Amino acid sequence: MKYQGIIFDLDGVICSTDEYHYRSWKALADRLGIPFDRERNNLLRGVSRMDSLKIILEKSDKTYSEEEQIAFAEEKNALHRQLLSQMSPADLSDEVKNTLDTLRRAGLKLAIGSASKNTPFILERIGLGDFFDAVADGNCITHSKPHPEVFLKAAEMLGLKPAQCLVVEDAHAGVEAAVNGGFDCAAIGDARDDPRAAWHLKGVSDLLQQL
Ligand code: BG6
Ligand code: MG
Repeated sequence: MKYQGIIFDLDGVICSTDEYHYRSWKALADRLGIPFDRERNNLLRGVSRMDSLKIILEKSDKTYSEEEQIAFAEEKNALHRQLLSQMSPADLSDEVKNTLDTLRRAGLKLAIGSASKNTPFILERIGLGDFFDAVADGNCITHSKPHPEVFLKAAEMLGLKPAQCLVVEDAHAGVEAAVNGGFDCAAIGDARDDPRAAWHLKGVSDLLQQL
């Protein structure tokens, strides 16, 4: 492989926690009477919690104070955490698990680059708490994707330059962040056809074709 490290987004790449984000935002939006569907949810992929809320509130007739917005974000996160707490290693697919193991055996360094502050909790739930060589997440960044900060941090933690790493992303904002940081990107899921990506994956196991 032309890369020495791979930086994975978490939600929607390693596991299907993107669905839990959708369900918990949908519950909040319904309670507030704000239109919100799966298409609009795609705009939230890779975007931080508060910025996601702001996108949802764009469709509201009302304006909400900063305190109300913080309370809404906490309400959403409580619902999200409830769903996450029910996860177990069974929620890590065989495809993802086998791909990670094969890449590791091939000598690649593996990292997470996620906007989520729930990253450590999710990794613990799915049995990957100690797996990755580096974890950069929403707890250690100040700029949201499409800013490249989270991927630059992950590469630095791996001791690699951006050109030596491949980023795997399901969010258009994440593909943009990777490119902004000087990384090649493999796009999957919702972002799969993003023309800025160097690779377009049907599944994570397609990465093994590059070995
Ligand atoms: C990203 C998700 O991984 O994390 C976004 O794609 C989410 O949808 C963001 O808003 C922040 O997540 P959290 O868990 O910190 O609210
Ligand atoms: Mg994602």
